[in-house]
Amino acid sequence: MTADAFALPWRICAVADLEATGAKEFEFGNPRRYWGFVLRWAGDVRGYVNACPHLGLPLNLSGDHFFDAEGKLLLCRMHGALFRPLDGFCVSGPCAGASLQRLEIAVRDDAVWLCA
Ligand code: FES
Repeated sequence: MTADAFALPWRICAVADLEATGAKEFEFGNPRRYWGFVLRWAGDVRGYVNACPHLGLPLNLSGDHFFDAEGKLLLCRMHGALFRPLDGFCVSGPCAGASLQRLEIAVRDDAVWLCA
């Protein structure tokens, strides 16, 4: 097994990595072909597949920018859908009423881990 091998639980990032933008995108799978992101909001950490329920496109256009200007909702930058950070529910936009696909994550040893 190489150091880069993918096995669960899998370390995504340090919790401190979420401070700059509140979120961090990551690639996972074996081979790596899925994109997800983790976020920290109101003291909780969540993880989602980075695919908007509208057209399946990534929410961010680049970098780790997932929140709207107010920092309260997740923004799909393609067509403006807005999602609640803690449950991924879309409150506005073309996929209102749908939800982001949640990933099972855990926080341990000051790091965020993908568990399932
Ligand atoms: S792809 Fe997200 S709102 Fe259209």
